[in-house]
Amino acid sequence: MEVALVMGSISDWPVVKQTAEMLDRLGVSYDKHVISAHRMPEQLQEFGSKSKSEHYQLIIAAAGGAAHLPGMMAANTTLPVIGIPVQTKALNGVDSLLSMVQMPSGVPVATVAIGNAGAKNAAILAAQIIALQNPDVNQKLVQFRTEQTEEAIKSNDQLD
Ligand code: RP5
Repeated sequence: MEVALVMGSISDWPVVKQTAEMLDRLGVSYDKHVISAHRMPEQLQEFGSKSKSEHYQLIIAAAGGAAHLPGMMAANTTLPVIGIPVQTKALNGVDSLLSMVQMPSGVPVATVAIGNAGAKNAAILAAQIIALQNPDVNQKLVQFRTEQTEEAIKSNDQLD
């Protein structure tokens, strides 16, 4: 698999499902896992440590609240980690965003937008990285961008 798609809880799945659907659309292979940083710390460390030898090219990690999953995953591997801040009820996901984006110097997490936009963009960003060495994924990305542009232009019809 090219991508490991991990989330802190099954409650994150409705958001992360949008990442999975976009990865499908862009022809990127992935598998998916619930790995809770605070409920499964040993499993997190083992997964992160083995992720490179398992031949993943990158990890997408979604979490909400005190969202330490992406940072701790990044601490256990040199694979690129893309973090999706899940929207929370208490603080609207600003907690998740700041937890991820404010990683101290030395261990980055490429953090996307809170919630649905971030979930989709994480998949697109992953595909853009993989497309550097995968012409099929590159072709699907170009097609996606073309369709997106056409839809935006066509939306002018709705102004009448
Ligand atoms: C985080 O805590 C998860 O990523 C989730 O967004 C949040 C709440 O988890 P649950 O209490 O719903 O399992 O670890």
